[in-house]
Amino acid sequence: MEPPLTGREAAFLHDVCREAGALTLRYFGRVSGWTEKSGRGDIVTEADHAVEELVARRLAEELPGHSLLTEERGFVPGHQDAPIWVLDPVDGTRNFALGVPVYCVSLACVAGGKILLGAVYDPVHDILYHAESGKGAFQNEVPVRVSETPDLHDALISVSWSPRRRDVEEYVRIVARVAAHTSYFRRIGSAALVLSYVATGRFDGYIQAGISPWDIAAGTLLVREAGGVVTDIQGCPFDILTPSLDIVAGNPAVHRCLMEDVLRKS
Ligand code: IPD
Ligand code: CA
Ligand code: CA
Repeated sequence: MEPPLTGREAAFLHDVCREAGALTLRYFGRVSGWTEKSGRGDIVTEADHAVEELVARRLAEELPGHSLLTEERGFVPGHQDAPIWVLDPVDGTRNFALGVPVYCVSLACVAGGKILLGAVYDPVHDILYHAESGKGAFQNEVPVRVSETPDLHDALISVSWSPRRRDVEEYVRIVARVAAHTSYFRRIGSAALVLSYVATGRFDGYIQAGISPWDIAAGTLLVREAGGVVTDIQGCPFDILTPSLDIVAGNPAVHRCLMEDVLRKS
């Protein structure tokens, strides 16, 4: 059973996401270099490290004993069974580094294997998407719902895969299949924003391969709390702390169509 939230966690989540987003804006448009990690396309900037530093410091001060899992630092354990805060300091790093205003900070609180809280902050547009388990999903405090698009015909679907994936042809085939069934396809370069767009009904569905907990923990809760479905690529529930995940998200009807018409035939 997950420990009950005290109320301090939600306040921490909102406040630290906004502060982290403001910090990224000090770098945005001025990034002069980056470091490659696992290979071409997988990069980190000074801003990613600065955001992680900020969140780690504030977590230790305000919620001591809680654990932290981040993209750049890995797992920093707190007390046994303490909630785990899952952070992507900048999701959409390549966009961010190039001055493309499509990136965000993503932070979630996971306890007992359950995502209890999640927030995705888009600092350029000052939009905070947030969700709390059992209490709904919101965009700047206004409740949001997934779309009501009934099938793939008019659906807008995002398909993406990690730069670490070697089976790119498989995903190009999936893109071709999506294109054959739908009118609209997008790849915007930020998993957390795509999930926020599914939660708010802007996008109808999403297929993503080779994704990590920090990319999707907050966004997964957003979609589910907005009435949508997020599963693994077999259509099954998954453990959010699994290191590499292939996921499918969407409103319930579009999720079903993606499973039946796009993925089962690939
Ligand atoms: C990436 C983005 C991208 C997804 C990649 C992620 P990063 O995260 O979310 O949309 O396709 O798999 O690695 O590197 O920008 O934090
Ligand atoms: Ca990411
Ligand atoms: Ca990142």
